Amino acid sequence: MTTTGEAVAFPQSRSCPYHPPAAYDPLREERPLARVTLWDGREVWLVSGHRTARKLLADPRLSTDSTRPDFPLPTERAVAVRRSRRPALLGRDDPEHNAQRRLLIPSFSLKHVDGMRPRIQATVDGLLDAMEAAGPPAELVSAFALPVPSIVICDVLGVPYEDHAFFEEQSRRMLRGPTAEDTLEALTRLEDYLGELIDGKRANPGEGVLDALVARRSRDGGPNREELVQLATILLVAGHETTANMISLGTYTLLRHPGRLAELRADPELLPKAVEELLRFLSIADGMLRVAREDVEVDGTVIRAGDGVVFSTSLINRDGTVYADPDALDWERSARHHVAFGFGIHQCLGQNLARTELEIALGTLLRRLPGLRLAAPAEEIPFKPGDTIQGMLELPVTW
Ligand code: HEM
Repeated sequence: MTTTGEAVAFPQSRSCPYHPPAAYDPLREERPLARVTLWDGREVWLVSGHRTARKLLADPRLSTDSTRPDFPLPTERAVAVRRSRRPALLGRDDPEHNAQRRLLIPSFSLKHVDGMRPRIQATVDGLLDAMEAAGPPAELVSAFALPVPSIVICDVLGVPYEDHAFFEEQSRRMLRGPTAEDTLEALTRLEDYLGELIDGKRANPGEGVLDALVARRSRDGGPNREELVQLATILLVAGHETTANMISLGTYTLLRHPGRLAELRADPELLPKAVEELLRFLSIADGMLRVAREDVEVDGTVIRAGDGVVFSTSLINRDGTVYADPDALDWERSARHHVAFGFGIHQCLGQNLARTELEIALGTLLRRLPGLRLAAPAEEIPFKPGDTIQGMLELPVTW
């Protein structure tokens, strides 16, 4: 095990957008647990083994309450946000977490999301119509990868899509702003916006999830205004950023793997398996965070009360004892049980929606643009640096 002073820094930039950073290689050797150093010099546990990760993510002795002073945070920006606010759902432990989650489960169930397929398909087709009318070439992040999930989550929540430039900008500043102050200011602006939107819904209710929560509050004392704003914030940000990154990075990865792409074009039935494998392979949310509330013994190691625990999704999803040839993209493997959506009580609430969006977006893109290819040298296309959320900054394509 690495000793103090030698611990690898976490997080680090990927050198190839779809592979874990080469700097994490020593952590692979040390599976399932190693020590890493965060930006503030603090050492925490890094979980890279698949079985150990699932044990720990299901353990109620690990907390997600980021207002605790010993909670590990990967950047100064994250500190600004998560020490001053306890996010809904992801920042709560049970039973409070469970009470919030139960309010939302029906709106994100597989059955409910299946009913949304025609609307998602129409959104995807509309964006591709516009792209075809204007191009080629096109910048795929702004023309397609970001608007698909943005339009869909607006529709689900009852947020007007006309305001997308505003909330996408605040979300970008929250996740990648230049300073911690900028991040906090963006969060405050987004909360103010969502607070006003929620107030307006009392008088003029619509059809979205937020409207239903407001109605519930008036009827039987559901979540209060502050809680509603926090729920709206996490749903809006998590609902568009992550899926947008999967669409852009997924497309880039397919274009860099022509053999796999050809298989997918030849047999669109492979699509659900391909989406699952891309989720495993790309692991775009590459860092889940916890703090131990009490001593926890796992696989012969004791994690002490107050220790920070960070889960590297990309390393866990490439554990060679679970996935043969883990660095290869392979539609035939069983990628199930990956932790790209997390595991345990905080497992992604939006996973049914995300899978459906990815199937429709990637499937339709490949079908409608059979000549799709990169419009710049692959190595020169910029992707997101450093932080725990991965994706393409831009994706110039032609067809
Ligand atoms: C491909 C896209 C997505 C990926 C890779 C992803 C990934 C994740 C991961 C890894 C977690 C668990 C974090 C942890 O345990 O620390 C999570 C939680 C969450 N995700 Fe997603 N997500 C995606 C899409 C979405 C969408 C579309 C929504 C929209 C509603 C969403 C809403 C949430 C929420 C609310 C939580 C917190 C759940 C809880 O604490 O109970 N996500 N997501």
